[in-house]
Amino acid sequence: MINAKQFTEQIAQQCEPLYQLTENNVKMYWANKPSKQDTIDYFGRRMINERINCIELSRRVSEMGNDVEPEEMFLISKQAHDEAKHFWFVKDILTDLMGHEPDVDAVHEAIKQKQLRGEAIALPAELLAKFECTEDPIALAVYQYIAEGMAHRNWVAQAECAPTAMIAEKYAEIAKDEKFHSQIGRMQIEKLVVDQATLTHATELAQEVIELIWSFGRSDKERCIKAHIPLSALN
Ligand SMILES: [Fe+2]
Ligand SMILES: [Fe+2]
Repeated sequence: MINAKQFTEQIAQQCEPLYQLTENNVKMYWANKPSKQDTIDYFGRRMINERINCIELSRRVSEMGNDVEPEEMFLISKQAHDEAKHFWFVKDILTDLMGHEPDVDAVHEAIKQKQLRGEAIALPAELLAKFECTEDPIALAVYQYIAEGMAHRNWVAQAECAPTAMIAEKYAEIAKDEKFHSQIGRMQIEKLVVDQATLTHATELAQEVIELIWSFGRSDKERCIKAHIPLSALN
């Protein structure tokens, strides 16, 4: 049996082509010179996504039982704190692009309406139901390791290709945080994968996450897992 550390290394290798694909999508987005309005819409989705990330993680913290390990509570709270910072950063980027502060509520409402009309990126609800709203700690850890690892790579590419220094600087910091979030997933996997049964379970979950992300990548070049708006955004 391979150990948990070998397992996470194997997953990282397996994810490499996938990460390269989404990295290229970010590069292509800027290479195609999007219009100002398109860029505003793009960062509008990003802003709402970061805010929801913060809310979802805070919810997870608020639901932790008395038996939670303090380290786990600390790490997830830190991640929630980071997501609040990302929300702030992206809102600043939008303010800079628009010349005034965006109306967060209106931006969110417009996304919801577009989604209801089927014009905005569809919700990968299957993925959310399976991995983000799960009570299975191994599923959460595997999802976090893979998806946040991809976010890190995406935002490194964003920092390299973005058209303004402000976007580049903010995304360089966001990318650093995403790497840390992915490491939280890795640490959790290494704690939870302790025998053949947990290894088999984690392996199956990882294949499922990877396959789903590939299927999104194939169906829409600009789509990536982190572009999704969680289900809760529609409520
Ligand atoms: Fe984030
Ligand atoms: Fe994150």
